[in-house]
Amino acid sequence: MLKNDLILRTLRGEQTERTPVWMMRQAGRYLPEYIVIRNKYGFFERCQTPELACEITIQPVDIVGVDAAILFSDILVVPQAMGLEVQLKENVGPLLPDPIKLASDMARVRVPDVDETLGYVFDAIKLIKQELNDRVPLIGFAGAPWTLLCYMVQGKGSKTFDEAKAFCYAQPEVAHQLLQMITDTTIAYLKGQIKAGADVLQLFDSWGGLLSPTDFENLSLRYIRQIVAAVKDEVPTIVFAKGAWHSLEAMAATGAAGLGIDWCIDPKMARKFAGNNVTLQGNFDPAKLLSPIPVIEAEVKSMLQAFGPGRHIANLGHGILPNVPVAHAQAFVNTVKEFRF
Ligand code: CP3
Repeated sequence: MLKNDLILRTLRGEQTERTPVWMMRQAGRYLPEYIVIRNKYGFFERCQTPELACEITIQPVDIVGVDAAILFSDILVVPQAMGLEVQLKENVGPLLPDPIKLASDMARVRVPDVDETLGYVFDAIKLIKQELNDRVPLIGFAGAPWTLLCYMVQGKGSKTFDEAKAFCYAQPEVAHQLLQMITDTTIAYLKGQIKAGADVLQLFDSWGGLLSPTDFENLSLRYIRQIVAAVKDEVPTIVFAKGAWHSLEAMAATGAAGLGIDWCIDPKMARKFAGNNVTLQGNFDPAKLLSPIPVIEAEVKSMLQAFGPGRHIANLGHGILPNVPVAHAQAFVNTVKEFRF
């Protein structure tokens, strides 16, 4: 039995004594303890070594006091397992030197055996569960198919992912074949995470907001729907499609227990779109953690008021920035934990 199951109860729609809190990308570069490990090992070495992944996953639980741990890994381990080379350049971001551009490139990708290719993630989850010792739930995750296609086709980060879009618009059949292969891999991968002990799953569709509502349905949501349907009866699932506020109603209809929202939509408006049967997660502007601490405290309280009691998990509207002082992250978390309606 979990000692702190606030997030699980909130995802089930139960009233809790207070609002639970965690931060997207909470295991990472703003923590000096993480930098120490980063200076010694390469990025994928950290992901592939269960002891390192375990230590990094638990750091924010100990240091910042969040109500959940999120597995230390990356969404790009899936394209890697599917056969593409993925590099992470320090301070630059992901690089896939041979991206998918043409139908003929599809011969280089496969739906892999996840135990063979991603077994190290399952081993990390088992170790983390043991080390957490039921203090807080463990969130497993994967990238949504559209966001993974963005990297697999564009080959690197981008503000617009125009080459990924061009691929989908010019070669729709190939695009859908790739999206379905990513979906099938992701379902097997997430089922493996559940089997290893993940208590909650989150799907990150970081680039969902780059698509029109119609294209979002066609290129993203129809695959998210398959994934949620495959796992939702085993563990609660949170869908975070950044910027895709126009589709909150359709995302709630997938059966996801939670929906992430960013800071560009008002919580009351998000609730109106999403309906009353889903938990909302968010939506503090990550850059606001660079404000003085009293400003953070006041802004967090007004965010909590705007969501109201129940069916809310306090979080940022996207990942924490690397230049946020640890004391500011702690102020964010502590303000939520001390607040009562
Ligand atoms: O949330 C956590 O603390 C768990 C670990 C986690 C990482 N990446 C570790 C990481 C999670 C959940 C992710 C998800 C991820 N990765 C997303 C979706 C969330 C989002 O922020 O939109 C995306 C788009 C990626 C792809 C990716 N990985 C990028 C664009 C980058 C470089 C830029 C950046 O944000 O750092 C990475 C590298 C990465 N993944 C780092 C970490 C801690 C930083 C590299 C390092 O510390 O060496």
